[in-house]
Order: sequence, then structure tokens, then C-alpha cells
Amino acid sequence: MSLVDTVLGWFGLARVRREIATRQPAGRAPLSDAAGFQLPVHGAPRAGPEPLPELSSEQRAIMDDLLGGGLGSQVALVLGAAGTGKSTLIQALVRATDGQAIVCAFTGVAALRVDGTTIHRLFGFGPHVLPREKADVIPYLPEERRQVLAKARFLVIDEVSMVRCDLFDAIDRSLRLNLGKPDLPFGGKRLVLVGDMLQLTPIVGKEERQTIHAQWPGEHFFHARVWDAVQPRVFQLTVDHRAAGDQPYRESITAIRAESSKIGAVETLQELIGRNRQTDQAVVLTPYNKVADSVNAERLAALPGVARRYIGTVHGEFSDRERPVVPTHVELKVGARVMVAANDHVEPRRYVNGTTGTVRDLQADRVLVRKDDGEDVWIERFRWDRFEPQWDEELGKIVLAIVASYTQIPLLLGWAFTVHKAQGITFDRAHIKPGRGFFCSGHAYVAVTRCRTSAGLSCDRELRPGDFEWDDAVREFLASVEIEGR
Ligand SMILES: Nc1ncnc2c1ncn2[C@@H]1O[C@H](COP(=O)(O)OP(=O)(O)OP(=O)(O)O)[C@@H](O)[C@H]1O
Ligand SMILES: [Mg+2]
Repeated sequence: MSLVDTVLGWFGLARVRREIATRQPAGRAPLSDAAGFQLPVHGAPRAGPEPLPELSSEQRAIMDDLLGGGLGSQVALVLGAAGTGKSTLIQALVRATDGQAIVCAFTGVAALRVDGTTIHRLFGFGPHVLPREKADVIPYLPEERRQVLAKARFLVIDEVSMVRCDLFDAIDRSLRLNLGKPDLPFGGKRLVLVGDMLQLTPIVGKEERQTIHAQWPGEHFFHARVWDAVQPRVFQLTVDHRAAGDQPYRESITAIRAESSKIGAVETLQELIGRNRQTDQAVVLTPYNKVADSVNAERLAALPGVARRYIGTVHGEFSDRERPVVPTHVELKVGARVMVAANDHVEPRRYVNGTTGTVRDLQADRVLVRKDDGEDVWIERFRWDRFEPQWDEELGKIVLAIVASYTQIPLLLGWAFTVHKAQGITFDRAHIKPGRGFFCSGHAYVAVTRCRTSAGLSCDRELRPGDFEWDDAVREFLASVEIEGR
């Protein structure tokens, strides 16, 4: 038995190659498995890899370039506004390289979106600021993990706008140390950084601010010391696939990004959504946790009847930070607005991550939800897996092994969400409650870009150009990069 199997055995998990072990409802075909996925033999059904849309020509061109090795450049940065298919491109890249790419992200939610792992988990970092001069914050990884890193052709990081300078320098130092190449940036590994710099930026706690600013000129990944040592090739995706069907909306949220066109774009967006009223179906989006929690609690309490509680179970090590957004205790009532936080595991999919609806019935292991399109669907307990990349000697490639799993009813109270929680999600209808105001770079932009059409969007008050503020450092950075093909 290999070391990996032994460790998985401790968690009560087993490795099964190229086999999806799911309880499929009769008459429905399982989704196909991707080469290299290894799935455990028990637990609630889990989706196979998502079927991907056909790549657009610009997505394909970037992928071909990356796969072709480019001009030997070590770091590629793939930028693109909200909904331009960045995460989709990552998924396609991973499949095309057949187990030669490692994918990670700062938050667990972002990592799960692309079947990746968190950066902290991959490199064994602790949760605090990773001081620049201290060596002992960079662990020497076990042989198995070093081998994975050595064999990977690419290390892909999604939602890179959220990666802080200390974390980015720590990635560099860890790769130098663990790949035994102390003189090469990132130990010579190729990096593909993906994200939208105008979306949410790194989180810096009050007590962390001083430590960070004493050691780095700013908090973004491009303020890291190692950034001076690389010449990135920069690509950009330009076609918004999320708002593809609503041209005026699409154009206004694109124009809002540029200082020169922002004022007019906010006016146009305001004209498009100004007369829209908050509907019962609309999700409330707010900058503040407290507002979201209280809207959800109030609406749940206002419903008649007794709440039913669903308790999630964890196998293996799945920290709070890495777990999906669905909490371990979920209380629901008939009539509650909910959002599904998982994709259906069978084809044709009856629901996807982000589907909204209303609870019709509650049973021990499943909940009947009437989707907003009118169809009723039973939502069963769902299993999320935390993957870690491992080197498989037999297959001669990196495979994703499941090292922990979390099973819970995949439903969130769906009357309100914070903008941070909504990053990356698409809603049919959203109502923005700015409350005391947006408070970080890209906050308002993320809020107004979550819908497919402007008809689905409304706001408590008029949107103002002042809502759409971005860090000067981000603007300067974007002005300084040279985008391929421009
Ligand atoms: N080539 C394509 N054809 C059709 N739909 C696509 C294509 N690429 C992506 N999409 C769809 O567009 C939506 C947004 O894609 P995706 O999540 O990859 O964008 P993103 O750039 O990562 O967005 P965000 O900035 O919000 O993270 C998804 O529903 C996705 O399935
Ligand atoms: Mg994305």
C-alpha cells in the first residue's frame, strides 16, 4: 500500500481510479469521468467534471499559446473582466494537459470552482502574514508533494487579484526550496496567473496592515519582491459570456471599468436599472455580513411553521476556510428562498451552482425546491471533495486524489448574500443594498456584474460614479503591462 493510500485510509477514504462511485437515480446517466480523477468509493453523489462550453476563439488562442510553450516565458498573466470565461479556460487547460497542471486559489470557494486546492494547503503555509525575511514560515514539503511540484508543467492560480504580496513571495520561496533551485524565480516553474484586477483585492486585517506595509511597497501580488525578477506575458479575454444576451448592459459594465468612460457608463447603467423594483425573487447583495445575515434570519423567522435543521459531516481534514460556503448547520422552512450551492451530478442537469428557488418540502436527506423556472426538483445531500495533486508513478502523471470530503444539503438561505460571497456567481435577479457604502476596490463592480441581464438588477438607491472606485496601485499596474496582440 502506498503512502497516499495509507493516509487516505486514515480518513476512511479509498482511491479508485477512473471510476465514479455515485448512487445514480435510475435511468439517468452519470457524467463522464476525467482522466486522472480519483474518487472515493462512498459518500453522497458528486458531480463528475463539468461539461465545458466550446471555447471561444480568444480562449482557444490563449490556450494554444500556453500549451505551445509560448516564447518560453515563465509567467503568464491571463486577465479579463467579469464573465469573460477565465475560470472556464483554466478548466479547459487542465483537461488539455492531462494531469500536468496544478490549480490553486486563495479562497476555498474559488479553488472548488476549478477543482483546485488552496494555496495555503498546497504549500503548507500558516494563516498569518508570511514575513519576507523569515525562513521557517516556508515548510520543506514531504517527498511526495515535492515530486508533484517538480513534475507539474504549470502552476495555475485563479482569482489572482486576491493574492497578497507576502503569499506570492512565499510561493516563490517555497518553490525555490522544494524544487532545489534556490537561484531561479519560482524554482523555474511556469506560472499561469488568472484573474480580473478590477474585482476584489487582497484582504488585509487591521493588525496585518503594519507588518505588510513595513516590508512591501503595497499589498497586491505584483508588489511581491519576486515580481521584479519576472517578465510576464500578459493575455486578455474580452468577450463577456455571462451578459452575452444583453448588449446595453454588457456595454455599460464594460465601460464602467475605464475612468474615461465611467461617468457615462454609470448613467447608462442607472437608466437601465433605475425603474426596476426589488422583487421577491431578487437576491439582496450587500457589502455587509451583518446585513445579509439579518435579512436572511428575518425572512426565515417571518415564515410560519417549524424549521428543520440539516447537519453537515466532514471526513478527513477540511478546515472552515477551505469548506464550501454551506455551513455545517443549515435551518430551512417550507417557503424559504434558497440558492443551490452545487451542480447536479446527473445529466441533463436539473440545477447548477447558483440556481435559486423556494422550498416546498423538507425530508431528512433531501429538500424539494421549486426552481424559479417553475420546475420542482429534489435536492439531495451533496459531497464536496478536497483534492490534492499527487504524482502517480504507474500512470506517469499528476493525479488528483481526494483527501477529505464534506457532505451537507447544498442549500443556502437565498434572500441575501455579501458581495464577497457572490464573487464568481451568476444570479437571474439581484437587488443591491449598498447600506453604508462599498468599502473595497472593485466591490460595486462585482455587485453589478452578477446578472445575465439588466432587467434582473435593481438597487436601493441611485448608483454613483463614486461607488466605482479602484486602488490606484491596480490602475498603475494595469497601465504598465503590455497585453499580447494589442
Ligand atoms: N466559450 C464560452 N461559450 C459559452 N459560455 C461560456 C464560454 N466561456 C465561459 N462561458 C460561460 O460564461 C460564464 C462565466 O464564465 P467563467 O466563470 O469562466 O468566467 P470568469 O471570467 O471566470 O468570471 P468571474 O470573473 O466572475 O470569475 C459561465 O456560465 C460559463 O459557463
Ligand atoms: Mg472566475
